[in-house]
Amino acid sequence: MAGSSPSDNPDSYAALDVLTSAVVILDEQACVVHANTAAQALMDFSLKNVRGQRFAALFSNGEVIDALYHEAREQRFSNKRLDFELERSGHEPLQLHVIVTVLLDDPSTPVVLEMQEIDQQLRQNREERILEQSEANRELVRNLAHEVKNPLGGIRGAAQLLESELATPELREYTQVIIKESDRLQSLVDRLLAPQRRPHIVAELNIHEVCERVRSVVLAEYPRGLVIDRDYDTSLPEVQGDKEQLIQALLNITRNAAQALEERIRQGDGRISLCTRVARQSTIAKTRHRLALELHVIDNGPGIPEDIKDRIFFPLVSGRAGGSGLGLTLAQTFVQQHQGVIECESRAGRTEFTILLPLQ
Ligand SMILES: Nc1ncnc2c1ncn2[C@@H]1O[C@H](COP(=O)(O)OP(=O)(O)O)[C@@H](O)[C@H]1O
Ligand SMILES: [Mg+2]
Repeated sequence: MAGSSPSDNPDSYAALDVLTSAVVILDEQACVVHANTAAQALMDFSLKNVRGQRFAALFSNGEVIDALYHEAREQRFSNKRLDFELERSGHEPLQLHVIVTVLLDDPSTPVVLEMQEIDQQLRQNREERILEQSEANRELVRNLAHEVKNPLGGIRGAAQLLESELATPELREYTQVIIKESDRLQSLVDRLLAPQRRPHIVAELNIHEVCERVRSVVLAEYPRGLVIDRDYDTSLPEVQGDKEQLIQALLNITRNAAQALEERIRQGDGRISLCTRVARQSTIAKTRHRLALELHVIDNGPGIPEDIKDRIFFPLVSGRAGGSGLGLTLAQTFVQQHQGVIECESRAGRTEFTILLPLQ
């Protein structure tokens, strides 16, 4: 093969078609030289249409590919594994695990991308981890909250007694601090213990009524600069659930999104989408359900801060000054009490929280 490269002879790629991994080979301009059958199926294009095209240009967030390609070309690695999401208009986003290999000795086909869809199994593992973590967390928080709650009443009562005995009224300033701070702690502790309430499954409810309520509350809080799109699947059946809890869960998520969007809201282009879908045969919290509901809350904000990304569902974890770090803990608990789970994907420019609830 001296002096020629496989790209001169398309048949030399035939072997790639037996692979289940999607393989895309890019040339020195980051254009597609070859995409195997699995890649064409995964990305829903034909080789004929994409050969010679810049691969990154096929996706609305192609910059992730460009960045990776440049890193590869600068030979900052010879082989790299990572996960990313590719978006194309009119298609579901693809969650991919990607292995990038740089072919240093073949200048005409410098970069090979091997891609596998991050499948149900992986999602399931992640959900199970969230579930176990949040159970352990709840236990810890419950115990801690009780330990704090017990002496609080005593402290407050003693401060009140002391106050009534004070000779100089100016000293009340100090007893008032004790009383006020005890009250603040009391309400924090109450909020930590609140999710222990069992959901009142009163009736069948329409999830879109929940969405509409939350939408109007958040829009009332942000009357200007924020658009909340709705993309509802109106064929969704009713859900068995506690309406107040589901409203609270969705409100916490949506309000977080609005808070993250504050900069954009100031500029007038804050956007949140509420999107509902039916999912068939999905596994939620270890149980397989024939039918489930997906409720997506997507915002175009800056993304979840990297340093707290893995812990946002933990109590008291907050990325905001003055945040309590309880909003998502509470939302997750409420949804779990409905045998559901909340998941999250986030990067700069797009954060998506998904509430999954079993229907059948
Ligand atoms: N849509 C979002 N975009 C960016 N960051 C978010 C988003 N939702 C949640 N977060 C981050 O997660 C943190 C935890 O949220 P939460 O549990 O509601 O607590 P709090 O809102 O009191 O901080 C937030 O402080 C924020 O940093
Ligand atoms: Mg919050």
